[in-house]
Amino acid sequence: MLTVYDYPTARALDGSGLDILLVGDSVAQNELGLERTADLSLGMMLHHVRAVKRGVERTHILADLPFGSYGKPAEALTSALALMDAGANSVKLEGPRFEVVEHLVGAGVPVMGHVGLLPQTAKRTVRQGTKPESAARIEQQAIGLANSGCYAVVLEFMSHDTARSITDRVDVPTIGIGAGPGCDGQVLVISDMLGQHESVPSFVQKYASLYEVTVDAASRYREDVKQRRFPNG
Ligand code: KIV
Repeated sequence: MLTVYDYPTARALDGSGLDILLVGDSVAQNELGLERTADLSLGMMLHHVRAVKRGVERTHILADLPFGSYGKPAEALTSALALMDAGANSVKLEGPRFEVVEHLVGAGVPVMGHVGLLPQTAKRTVRQGTKPESAARIEQQAIGLANSGCYAVVLEFMSHDTARSITDRVDVPTIGIGAGPGCDGQVLVISDMLGQHESVPSFVQKYASLYEVTVDAASRYREDVKQRRFPNG
């Protein structure tokens, strides 16, 4: 799984064989320059889901329910249906929101859970599940989400042992980010793995350096125009 926020990237990724494209609420920082995922509204998310949908023919589109859009089960269903109407095939939400998950799944909306570091509400970015009590708490949350009907659960930035143990114990696939190799699948933020920003989190593997490519292309273009090498026909 990779995140995707826009039409050209969606087109490029649709044929890549990835199982799921996540229109993540990390679009807030990575695409919109906002400070936190919590600054993203449902309206902004719908705009990006529609753009991604226009570029995708075959891959499953998962959309994050933005912070503040799923407080109560009925509100969550209204938001989830809006995301599905915009093109999402399923939705993801953060934390042990068992009642909300049951309500959505009961209404026919497939839901992915998300435990460990929860960017919508986290005060600090610290590795989760490093102590026995917090490991047990996260494990119970993941099991509860699976029992409530989630079809998979994201495990974000946690002790690798905790992630492995959760993966062994829950009945649905786990998808890790900064959670080590013991998960069933992995997810990365597209702008991190493509190197679109100056720096990336330590657990990211960069597969390209688009920041440098962009700076280089812009300065070569500027130089070509100044030297009257472009346009040349
Ligand atoms: O929005 C996002 O990028 C995410 C991933 C961290 C899973 O939710």
